[in-house]
Amino acid sequence: MINRDTTDMLNANSADDVSKAQHILSAGGLVAIPTETVYGLAADATQPQAVAGIFEAKGRPADHPLIVHLSCVEQLSNWAVNIPEVAYQLADAFWPGPITFLLEKAPHVNTVVTGGLKTIGLRIPAHPVMYQLLKQSGLCVAAPSANRYKKLSPTSAEQVKYGLAGRIDAVLDGGPCQVGLESTIIDLTKVAQGGDIKVLRAGPISAEQIAHVINMPVKDFENHTLAVPGNVAAHYQPNAPLQILPTLKLKQALAQSDQQAACIYYSAEIQEVLKHNPCTLNSLKLGAGHQAYGQQLYASLFELDKLKPTTILLEQPPQTANWLAVNDRLNRAQFKG
Ligand code: TXA
Ligand code: MG
Repeated sequence: MINRDTTDMLNANSADDVSKAQHILSAGGLVAIPTETVYGLAADATQPQAVAGIFEAKGRPADHPLIVHLSCVEQLSNWAVNIPEVAYQLADAFWPGPITFLLEKAPHVNTVVTGGLKTIGLRIPAHPVMYQLLKQSGLCVAAPSANRYKKLSPTSAEQVKYGLAGRIDAVLDGGPCQVGLESTIIDLTKVAQGGDIKVLRAGPISAEQIAHVINMPVKDFENHTLAVPGNVAAHYQPNAPLQILPTLKLKQALAQSDQQAACIYYSAEIQEVLKHNPCTLNSLKLGAGHQAYGQQLYASLFELDKLKPTTILLEQPPQTANWLAVNDRLNRAQFKG
């Protein structure tokens, strides 16, 4: 059993606290650190014992691989082999940033990191706190989202604490995450043999943006759950049941609401309804653009969930390409199976 009853709350603005976080990692401990996407639960990726602790703290199955976070492109070859040229082109265009490359793992990399697979996910995160910590320490950290298995990904230190306090050594508080949704995952393992380049997890960087950089076709995300073991159907879940409704249906549901539900919406139409009849425990309006919406989504679900509503009613966002990552997360958050 883990005995990490005291989870230190560290401040990313304090140089002393950042160096404390670094020492904990070097000593094989677990620290939640902000990235631009979501908070990651980090451990030194070269220490198998430390990495095993991540799975225990999250309650995550051991065959769900972890992403290793680097601080410079030169480190790619410490972790992967047979790296195609397109990886370097994409790194040049998007790193540091919210995209993870799936590559063939180097033989010496311990399979505890890759969940037993021969491939490895790698990215250079853009958040200045994580980036500087990696740069100054030379560490490479394995870091999944810092939530309990299947729960909402955290975009604030408070949210990490809610899920993992007493199970990890420290949380480095660097404020809210700027992107708010997990990185795009792109499979580059088949390109050397002339195979497809595929988006395995929809995210902040689209297939179209990737194709534009490498001037090659990129297969868009189509729910490759099998290729990405952690991408299970029920994921990103609040405690209250989530119900996604088109605008008209949401209006009807609000009219019949028993005041015990919560509501997330983005349209002026729903805002108008709620102005005349504030029939929920609480409601939150998110940005009408996909980026602002994505940034606020997990934090809003977390805020409303704390009120213990009977259900969270959510206005269905547009079903267009820009909203692919948001809709993917929402469908998994709603899934009951
Ligand atoms: O934005 C992000 O990617 C965040 C931050 C912390 O970097 N990390 C993150 O990690 O979302 P995690 O573990 O919550 O999600 C990573 C997904 C999982 O579904 C996992 O199965 C998949 O990536 N993955 C990692 N390595 C893989 C591999 N070698 N093969 C297939 N899927 C892999
Ligand atoms: Mg996750």
